[in-house]
Amino acid sequence: MDTQREVWSTRSVFILAAIGSAVGLGNIWRFPFVAYENGAGAFILPYLIALLTAGIPLLFLDYAIGHKFRASPPLAFRRLSRWTETFGWWQVGICFVIAVYYAVIVAWAARYAFFSIGQLWGDDPEGFLFGTFLQQEDGARVGFDLVPGVAWPLLLVWIGTIAVLAFGVQRGIGASAKIFVPLLVVLFLTLVIRSLFLDGAIDGLNAFFQPDWSLLTNPTVWIAAYGQIFFSLSIAFGIMITYASYLKIKTNLTGSGLVVAFSNSSFEILAGIGVFAALGYMAAIAQTGVDEVVSGGIGLAFIAFPQIISAMPGGSIFGAAFFTCLLFAGFTSLISIVQVVVSSVQDKVGLSRGPAVLIVGGAMTAVSMALFPTTTGVGVLDVVDKFVNNLGIVGVALVVIITVVWVLRRSGEFAEHLNAVSSFKIGRVWQLCIGIATPVVLGYMLVSEMMTLAEDGYGTYPASFTLALGWTVQAILIVVAIGLTLLPWRKGTDLGQPHSAEFITKAGSR
Ligand code: ALA
Repeated sequence: MDTQREVWSTRSVFILAAIGSAVGLGNIWRFPFVAYENGAGAFILPYLIALLTAGIPLLFLDYAIGHKFRASPPLAFRRLSRWTETFGWWQVGICFVIAVYYAVIVAWAARYAFFSIGQLWGDDPEGFLFGTFLQQEDGARVGFDLVPGVAWPLLLVWIGTIAVLAFGVQRGIGASAKIFVPLLVVLFLTLVIRSLFLDGAIDGLNAFFQPDWSLLTNPTVWIAAYGQIFFSLSIAFGIMITYASYLKIKTNLTGSGLVVAFSNSSFEILAGIGVFAALGYMAAIAQTGVDEVVSGGIGLAFIAFPQIISAMPGGSIFGAAFFTCLLFAGFTSLISIVQVVVSSVQDKVGLSRGPAVLIVGGAMTAVSMALFPTTTGVGVLDVVDKFVNNLGIVGVALVVIITVVWVLRRSGEFAEHLNAVSSFKIGRVWQLCIGIATPVVLGYMLVSEMMTLAEDGYGTYPASFTLALGWTVQAILIVVAIGLTLLPWRKGTDLGQPHSAEFITKAGSR
C-alpha cells in the first residue's frame, strides 16, 4: 500500500472539501433554470427520486472505490480489475475537459463582481456581455484571437488553482475549503434573504414552486433530474473517488456522504428560491410575467442578474456579493476537478506533488487560455459542455456501474466495505439502486441523448462544429484513456489486488 499518501486531518475537513466540490456553478445558475424548465414545483419529485436512487447510491460507490483502493481513479480501477484502468483515465479526461472551460466561467464571475460595483453594463447587459466584454464574433468556428479582458482573469484563476493544489490535500484543498465554504454559505444566505424582501419576490417563488404535474410523464424531465444530480454532486467523474482516497482508514463513509448530499441539495434549493425571488422582482419592474424574464445558463447569471442589479436599491453591493458567491462556489469545484488529474498523474508516473501540479496545471492553463478567452470561445464552451455532460459523464457512469455490478459482480464487496467503516448501514436497497434503477435510467438517458444530438444537432451550430467539438472530443477521450492504460506504471507501485481484507479488518478492529 502507498503509505506516503496524503490524508485529510479530520472527517470534517473532508466533508467541507466535498461540499466545496459539489456546490458549484451547477447549483447557482444551472439548478434554478433546469427546475423551472422541467415542471417547476413538480420537478422536486423527480429531483428527489434521482437524488435517492442514483445520487446518494453512486456517491457511496465512489467513496467505496476511492477509500477501499486508496488511489486516484486509474489506479483504483486497476486495483479493482486490471483492464478497468481505462475507465479511470476516461474520468480523468472528462475532468480535464470540464476544468478547461469551467475555469473561464469562474473568471467571468470574478470580473462581474467588479463590473457590478459600477454597473458597467449600463442599460444593455446583453450587448455588454457578448460585445464589450466577451467580444464574440458571429458564427461558429474555433479561433485563437485572444480577448485580453477575459484572458488575464482566467490566468489569475489558474494561478490561484495551481497555488492551492501545490499546498497539498490538507494545507491547500482542505484549508481553502475551510475558508471559502463557510464564507459562501453566509454570503449566499444573506443574498437569498435580501431577495425575499424585494417587490414581486412572491410572484417569482410562485413561478418556481407552481407544479406542472403533466410534465412528469415526459422522459426529458427525468433525464434533466438525473443529469442535474450527477453534475451537481460531482459524482461519476472521478472527483469523489479521488477525495475519498485521502481519508483515514477508519472513516464514516456513508454518514459523510449523507451530509454532503443533503447540504448540496439544500444549497441548490436555496439557490432556486433566491434566484426566482430576484426574477420575480425583475418581472414586477418590467410589468410582465416571470416566464418572460427567465433565461438559462449564461443568460441567467450574466444578463438577467445585471438587469436586476441595476434596478434594485443597493444593487451594486448585491451584485458584487452574488458574483463573489459564484466565484467562490466555482473555485472550490474547479480545484476538485483539477485534483483528479494531478492525483492520477502522480500515481502513474510517481511524481511528487509539486512537479505534478506544475505540469498538469500548466497543460490545463495552456489549453484553457488558447481556446476560451477568444472571440469564438463561447460557442466552443457551449458545445464542449453539452457533450461532456450529456454523453461523457453519463457514458462513463453507465459503463462503470455495469462493470462493477454485473460483469465483475463486486457490488457486495463494496457494500461490505462501506458497512465495515460507516454508521449508516446499506443493504439490498443500495444494491438495487446501483444495480438496476440507475443503469436503466442512465442507459435510457444516453441512448435518447445520442439520438437527439445525432438527429437534431445542438442549438443552431453547424454539424461540422458539433462533430469536431462534441462527438470527436468525446471519442478522443476514450482513445486517449486506452492509450494511457497501455503506458507502463512507475516501478514499485502496488498494482495488485485490493487491500480489502486488510482494510476491513483494520477498520473494524478499531
Ligand atoms: N459539482 C460542481 C458543480 O455543481 C461541478 O458545479
